[in-house]
This record gives sequence, C-alpha cells and structure tokens, in this order.
Amino acid sequence: MASSLPPTFRKYVVHTLSTDFNKATRLETLKTADVLASIPPTHVVIKHHYWAINASDINYTAGRYDPTKKPPFDTGFEAVGEIVAVGSAVKGYKVGQPVAVASYGAFTEIQVIDYRMVIPVPSLRPDFLPLLVSGLTSYLALKHQGQMTTGETVLVTAAAGGAGQIAVQLAKRAGNHVIGTCSSDAKAEMLKKLGCDRVINYKTENVKQVIRKHYPRGVDIVYESVGGQMLQDCVSCLGQKGRLIVIGSISNYASSESNPEDTKGDGKKKVFATGFGEDAVSTVALLNKSATVAGFFFPHYAKEYPAALRDLFKFVDEKTLTPVVDMVDFEGITSIPDAIHYLHSGKNMGKVVVPLIRSDKQKSHL
Ligand SMILES: NC(=O)c1ccc[n+]([C@@H]2O[C@H](COP(=O)([O-])OP(=O)(O)OC[C@H]3O[C@@H](n4cnc5c(N)ncnc54)[C@H](OP(=O)(O)O)[C@@H]3O)[C@@H](O)[C@H]2O)c1
Repeated sequence: MASSLPPTFRKYVVHTLSTDFNKATRLETLKTADVLASIPPTHVVIKHHYWAINASDINYTAGRYDPTKKPPFDTGFEAVGEIVAVGSAVKGYKVGQPVAVASYGAFTEIQVIDYRMVIPVPSLRPDFLPLLVSGLTSYLALKHQGQMTTGETVLVTAAAGGAGQIAVQLAKRAGNHVIGTCSSDAKAEMLKKLGCDRVINYKTENVKQVIRKHYPRGVDIVYESVGGQMLQDCVSCLGQKGRLIVIGSISNYASSESNPEDTKGDGKKKVFATGFGEDAVSTVALLNKSATVAGFFFPHYAKEYPAALRDLFKFVDEKTLTPVVDMVDFEGITSIPDAIHYLHSGKNMGKVVVPLIRSDKQKSHL
C-alpha cells in the first residue's frame, strides 16, 4: 500500500436529479482507512491524478442514462491514476501502476473498482483520456454506423471538442475528405492542424449553404453531436446513401431541468428521459436519398473496447493521431463543476481534463 495517502478523500455524489451539476451533487468526505480496510478481493484502489469531463456528465446527474437509478449515486466517467492497493484475488496489477478507468463513479479522489474494469496505461499522463470515451466513441461509431472506408466526405460537428477532434483525425487518416464545424477562429486553426480539409465556423458561415455550394453531391458521413438546427442542416446535407450518426445532442442537454420522473402532463414520460432532446428527422428526406440516420451509444460496444484501444494507442505511437487536451486553469477535484460549465460554454478546444495538480507545461492545446 502507498504510504502517501491522505487520511480522508472526497468524491461527488448525486443527491438530486438535475442537469445543474452543483445542484445535483454534494462533495462528500470519506475516511481512507475505512476503504482500505474492506477492499473486495477482486478490486483495486486507485488514487486519481486526472479526471476527464464529458458533455454527458450532466445527463448522468439528471438520471437520463439509467432512469431506474435513484440518488444517492456516484458520478463521473473517466480518470487516470495510480494503483495504491490491491485486493487478494487481483491478477496482473500492482501498487504504483498507472491505470485509467472509463466507468461510472470516476469523480472521486480515491476509487475502489474491480480490476477487470481497469485499463493499463504506460504512464501517468492526461493525454490517454481523449482515447477512452471520446476515442472509443469516434472509432466505433465511424466503423459500425458510419461504415467508413476511404475516399468519402465526412462532416464532423463539434469537431474541436473531445470526441470531435478524434473523429476528425480518424476520418483523415483513413483517407477521407474531412469537414469540421466549430464556433471560433482559434478552433478553426486547431482543426486545420489536425487535418480538416474545410472548417466551417458556424458563427460566421452557414453550414447548409457552404455544403450546398462546395459539395453539391452532399456528404457521405456525418458524425453529429449537436442536435437541434445543426442536426436538421446535416440531414439536408447528406448525399445519396449518406449515413448520419447521432452521437449526441449537446444543444438540448442543459436546456431543461427535466428528469426521468417528469411527465408531459398526460402521465407519459418525457422524451428527455433518454437525454437526447426532442429532435425529429424527416423520413421523406432520408427516403429520397436512400440515406440513414443511426444512433450510437458506446457502452453497447464494450466487447470491442480492448481491440479498439489497441488501435488508438498504436495510432498515437505512430503519430497519426494527436489527442488534444484542454486543462485551462483547473486544479483538483473541486474544479470539476467549473470544468463542466466550461465545456458547456462551448469554449473548450480538445478534451477537457482536470489535473489533481496543475503544472505550467500542461497548459498548451496542441
Ligand atoms: N453516443 C455516445 O456514446 C457518446 C460518447 C461520448 C460523447 N458523446 C457526445 O459527443 C458530443 C461531444 O461530447 P464531448 O464530451 O466530447 O464534448 P466536447 O465536444 O468536448 O464539448 C462540447 C462542444 O460542443 C460544441 N457545441 C455546439 N453546440 C453547443 C451548444 N449548444 N452548447 C454547448 N456546446 C455546443 C462546442 O463547440 P463548438 O460550438 O465550437 O463546436 C463545445 O466545445 C456530445 O453530444 C456528447 O453527448 C456521445
């Protein structure tokens, strides 16, 4: 067991279902000795050094992922840390080893988790985090729902974000023409460096008009994360046999305080219980182009994580994939609510990560 552990540690616990992280959670203090005294045989204890933020953190605190889940429950999806203790039946892991987790309950300073849920990483670094939820989502969605090959035109929305940046790079390294949308010139510069052939800053250009003018046959694949009007524009930009992958609908996430208990007044549950807003797609628009709109939810592909992660790590080693991390000025677990707010303000460039201890070297975007 590592000797440097503090006597207490903190974790976020959801007590009220809400998309407002501060309202939903309380930061609770627990005794480290209590955790260490009762480690289940197949579990390891991890001290986290980096936490990753996801757009869906606020869907999870609103109970939208699993409507049967009732507070109190732990929250947070991803972290990188070091193993500080192991249970008696743990195989292949030892104290001091750097590891990542991509499972519910990561917003804690010390996490107890089954060793079979743990992902070994080569060192204690934040740039593994964009490869987990974001990387796996991009890789598996483009492969399965996108049926991505080569020589196609791929449109990525929220392209400069945690998931979008990986989708852009995977589409490019597979030999496709890549268009990315974003909201600022700084993000546009970053996307060009990552390989985007055309960047559309949707604050200054109209996405539908740009595609109609420069891509009159439409696009083959859309990796769509925004929802609302952006989704409608993307559907209308699909070419013949085009495939639009519904990755998310971030423009709908914070707009309602609804939770799975909410009803429409007629006693029926609101569509918001799914976390994907109330976007509708015209079936006629799809029929006319033999186009497809398909949903993607990465936990449904859990069996493929190990092989997909091997590929993603290999691409990074080969330098054909550069995970971009955005840590701005965050430090420590108490920064997590601000980091979530930062992501939803649309300012982030790359994957939002909160370090346990900030260092100046970690500030750069690329
Ligand atoms: N289906 C799955 O299994 C799965 C897994 C992971 C993530 N996702 C989804 O992937 C999307 C991206 O998630 P992420 O965690 O990687 O977040 P992110 O992309 O790092 O951050 C969100 C970005 O979305 C863009 N955005 C566009 N419209 C917005 C709006 N109305 N409000 C706020 N932001 C807006 C902003 O950039 P610009 O405005 O500059 O484009 C912002 O920076 C989300 O929809 C998320 O739910 C889905």
